[in-house]
Amino acid sequence: MEVRLAECAGFCFGVKRAVDTVYEQVEKGKTIYTYGPIVHNEEVVKDLEEKGVRVIENKDELLSLDSENATVIIRAHGVPREIYDILERKGFECVDATCPFVKRIHKIVEKESSEGKHIIIIGNPGHPEVEGIKGWCKGPVTILETPEEAMDFPIKEGKEICIVSQTTFNYNKFQYIVEIFQKKGYNDSVVNTICNATEERQRSAKAIATEADVMIVIGGKHSSNTRKLYEICSKECANTYFIQTLDDLHLELPKAVRLVGITAGASTPNKLIEEVQNHVRINF
Ligand code: F3S
Repeated sequence: MEVRLAECAGFCFGVKRAVDTVYEQVEKGKTIYTYGPIVHNEEVVKDLEEKGVRVIENKDELLSLDSENATVIIRAHGVPREIYDILERKGFECVDATCPFVKRIHKIVEKESSEGKHIIIIGNPGHPEVEGIKGWCKGPVTILETPEEAMDFPIKEGKEICIVSQTTFNYNKFQYIVEIFQKKGYNDSVVNTICNATEERQRSAKAIATEADVMIVIGGKHSSNTRKLYEICSKECANTYFIQTLDDLHLELPKAVRLVGITAGASTPNKLIEEVQNHVRINF
């Protein structure tokens, strides 16, 4: 029996880089904070907590902290400009683990809005990445995520707009919304800032699921990207299992199973993926 891991499974490049940064900083012996949980994975956050890393929940909490010998790490999603200003003013050491793909969006909106353009961010208004992008705009900015909102957007004579997107937004939906703005006759510049990490993870999961007799999807039960992976794999492979940790895995494999495929959501650490992989290899 073969056990095969999807080519792109688990942490994307940006999240891996941010998590590694925290582990590196821990070694330096200072007080370490992350601005928001470094990744949406309880196990990782708990492990870091045990190593003394504390999570700052919001701006007010940041303002109340003592910066003496303390480092604040910015996570992959990035933060509004204002947070850097506070860190500097208060004298914190700042280690910026903002994903370079997100940083690029900050630079675009900062430049375009200082040239007078109205910025449109297509994404989820409650998401920290979107809040961060908004916080780099120097003028009017609108966040929207549905075609209806795009249709309702009021036309202002002669106003130029610049459209960007949240990195994890659905590409087809983004294109559709952009077309609505273009039909309305806007003088726009559109920058597709969607990151292909999500798409690649889905594509490689599907590729294995089409061949596999059994498919295991690892991820948090509240993680929407893991659920999406589960949906995609279930369509291709009837024996698809959704597990959070190794404890959830109660496999009884018939002798005829030749290929077990494994994939994992964006917040699933490598350690857990390896554990599952080894367990299946050793026990079946
Ligand atoms: Fe990840 Fe950065 Fe893309 S955080 S999803 S690699 S934008």
